[in-house]
Parts: sequence; C-alpha cells; structure tokens
Amino acid sequence: MKDNTNQQYEKTVNQFLTKSTEIKEGESKGWADKTDCGAGIFAIRKQGKLFVYRNQCPHRGLPLEWIENQFLDSSGELIQCSSHGALFTIEQGRCIAGPCVGQTLTPIEHEERDGFIFIK
Ligand code: FES
Repeated sequence: MKDNTNQQYEKTVNQFLTKSTEIKEGESKGWADKTDCGAGIFAIRKQGKLFVYRNQCPHRGLPLEWIENQFLDSSGELIQCSSHGALFTIEQGRCIAGPCVGQTLTPIEHEERDGFIFIK
C-alpha cells in the first residue's frame, strides 16, 4: 500500500508559486486567487530577497496594481496602490504615504528552495 500522507502534507503547506527566475531583481509579479479570501498575491525581489504580500490594499481592500505585474512606483523603491496612491515599503509592506499611513500589507509566508518559490 502506498503511503502518500507526507505528499498530502507537503501540498497543503507548500503551494508551488513559480520558478525563482520568474521574479528578477527589482521586478514585481502578481497572481490571482492564491489566498483563502480569494485575493491575489504579488511578489517583489529587492537586493536578492523575495517579498510576498496579499494583493489587497489596507485602505479599501482593493488590488494594488494599475497594470498587470506593476506594483512599484516610478522609482522602483516603493509599492504603490493604483486606486488612491498609497505608498508602502517593500521590506515591511508598511504604508508611509497616502490614506492608510501606518497600516501594512499582509505578508505571505513563502520559501525559495532549489530554484522554486512556494507559498504556505
Ligand atoms: S485602495 Fe489603496 S490607497 Fe485606497
């Protein structure tokens, strides 16, 4: 009899997202319907490190991007919400300007392993 308990566990805690090479330095990328609440998620790579957040602005709960996969402002240093212009730090997801100053994006637990990215 085949024991697939571990395989099922892996599936529930590690959902494959994409290859590491799909998110290049200084770029962002989004995916729809990846969370329990139906919101999408997005990822940004900065200085080699990956940051992943729920694609839901704390101001009105709307998705952040104005163009597919474009979550950053023109400087590339901050995350920008397209609806009312809130600006968030990439590292903490904390709003530093706009209508929801002090609130934060929801981080998504993730792991990069063997050239692949998984979310939990
Ligand atoms: S919904 Fe993001 S700033 Fe208003």
